Parts: sequence; structure tokens; C-alpha cells
Amino acid sequence: MKEVWAIGGGKGGIGKSFIISSMGNCLARQGKKVILVDADLGAANLHTFLGMGKPEKSLTDFFENKAPLASLLVRTGIDNLDLLAGAIHSMVPENIKYAQKLKFFRHIKKLEADFILIDLGAGVHFNTIDTFLLADRKIVVIVPEITAIENMYGFIKIVFFRHIMNTLGRNGFKDEFREVWDMRQAHGITTLKVFVECLKSQSASMGRIIDSELASFRVNIVLNQIKLKREKRIGNSVKSICLKYFGLDARYAGFIETDDFITRSLNNRQPYLQSYPESKCAREVAAIVHNLVNDQQISIQDAR
Ligand SMILES: Nc1ncnc2c1ncn2[C@@H]1O[C@H](COP(=O)(O)OP(=O)(O)OP(=O)(O)O)[C@@H](O)[C@H]1O
Ligand SMILES: [Mg+2]
Repeated sequence: MKEVWAIGGGKGGIGKSFIISSMGNCLARQGKKVILVDADLGAANLHTFLGMGKPEKSLTDFFENKAPLASLLVRTGIDNLDLLAGAIHSMVPENIKYAQKLKFFRHIKKLEADFILIDLGAGVHFNTIDTFLLADRKIVVIVPEITAIENMYGFIKIVFFRHIMNTLGRNGFKDEFREVWDMRQAHGITTLKVFVECLKSQSASMGRIIDSELASFRVNIVLNQIKLKREKRIGNSVKSICLKYFGLDARYAGFIETDDFITRSLNNRQPYLQSYPESKCAREVAAIVHNLVNDQQISIQDAR
């Protein structure tokens, strides 16, 4: 079964591209056929994490209708791992039209691979959110820093809100959704969880749709750049808050320690996992990949 994973949201510069490229590398080493997609259209740099220069072929050619998506794949030099490179500075999510977006989704799902891993960058434009929602595994990254955690909550809130809005819209409840939203102050709605409860109380069929979406909607949290052992716990705190304020059962997929060799291998144009396959960080990436593949999370004990 083909799986689409997307990493997105949160703050800039916290390790999203490092993590998705390393996860791709890790899956490829296990013999899976992997395609990395650099959809961080404003600031594409996934090729750099793979030790490559800027590829000549990129997603720009697809969005400008110059070439089919599959013809834009470039070899990374790593067995089983291909790249769909992003555009540099010439394209931003705001410029992608609705029809182009749907075509992109259709063609992404047709690519031949076991895993398609998409780097979405840090933005919250609805094109970015919709691509995130398309993924079978939705991954958000945090670092032990309040601004990064706040950005992550903001991102999850927008993602979940849009997901409920799209789902109810598709099922003919667009007006009911808008009514509750417009009346949120009168209803005393202060959190997304209460908003969802209020939507559910509108009708039994709306309630059933939302319940079934809630049961299958998963966001996976990856905690990056920890320096102290006790910082591992942050993942569990974030889980509790997601449940309390959003009513969401988020998964804590794992953590990665700070390792200065990551930036060093980046500067040497060497993929980190090629240079340090036995490092602690490489093992932590492998543990996260294992959890994501098996729809699991780290145990409370491991997160202490
Ligand atoms: N665990 C880590 N330990 C040390 N350095 C790290 C770690 N993770 C990422 N880095 C470094 O942090 C920098 C930013 O990482 P990266 O580019 O992956 O972030 P990003 O979230 O993709 O940023 P942007 O939002 O701008 O796309 C890079 O130099 C990377 O090597
Ligand atoms: Mg990035």
C-alpha cells in the first residue's frame, strides 16, 4: 500500500526538512521505494539535505504545465530514493490555483512508490493546509521552545478547523457550519473543542460525521533538538493540551536530540544518515519511522 506522509507547520528553522529527508533516507535503506517531494515552494532546500546541488527539473515545470509530475523525478544517488525538487523563490503557495492544486493531488497519488514524503515548509496558506490534510501520516515538529510550541498549536488548530469545515461542506452541512461559526460568541465558544461539540449538537447526522472524522484524524508530533533528558516529556504535555483544547488524540511519534554533526554534514553536502548511520540521532529517526509506519507512539516510560 502506498503511503503519503507530510511534514508541515510550526516555526521556521526547527528541523522539518532535516527530519523528512532523514525519514526518507531511513525508509529507502529498508528497501522501500521512496519519493521526497519538496513542496516548501517559497524556500525549497530539500536537495541540500540530500547532498545535491539545485536540480534543473522542479515542481515549477509541473505548475507551469511544462511537464508531467513523474518526469520531474531526479535521482538522489541514494538507492530507492528519488526527489521532486521544489522551486526556489519563483513560486509560493498563494500562486497555486484551485485546479492546479487538485491536479497536483491527483498526480502525487499516482506516483510509483511505497512512500511519498512531502516537505511543506512553515506556512499556513490554505493550499499548504490542504496538502497536509491529503497525507495519510500528518507530522508536526516542535522544539523545546515556547514560540515553536505556540506555532504548532496554531497550525493544528487551523488544520483541524479546515478539515471539519471541508468534511461538513462535502456532506451538505456548509450552512450549518457557518451558522455556528458566526454565532460562536453568543454560544460562548472559547475553544475548538467546544466549537466541535456545538456543531455535533446541531443534528445527529452531523454528530456522526464529526465523530467518525475525530476517530480517524491523527496528528503525529516529533520533538526535535532536545538537549536535556527531561525535555522528552514535552511531547506528552503537548498531547494532553491537544486533547483538552482541541479534543484531538495526537500521537507522540518520538524525539531527536541535538547533534552538531547534522549541520556539519549539511555544510559538507553529505546526507547525515549516510555519514552517521549508527549515530544516536539516526537511531531516533529510525524509531520515529517505525512508529509512523506502525501507527504507534512512544511509550510514556520512554518519554520520561
Ligand atoms: N536535531 C538537530 N540537532 C542539531 N541541528 C539540527 C537538528 N535538526 C535540525 N538541525 C539544523 O537546524 C537547521 C534548520 O533545519 P531545517 O532546515 O531542517 O529546518 P526547517 O524547519 O525545515 O526550516 P524552514 O521552516 O526554514 O524550512 C539546519 O541547519 C539543520 O541542520
Ligand atoms: Mg525546511
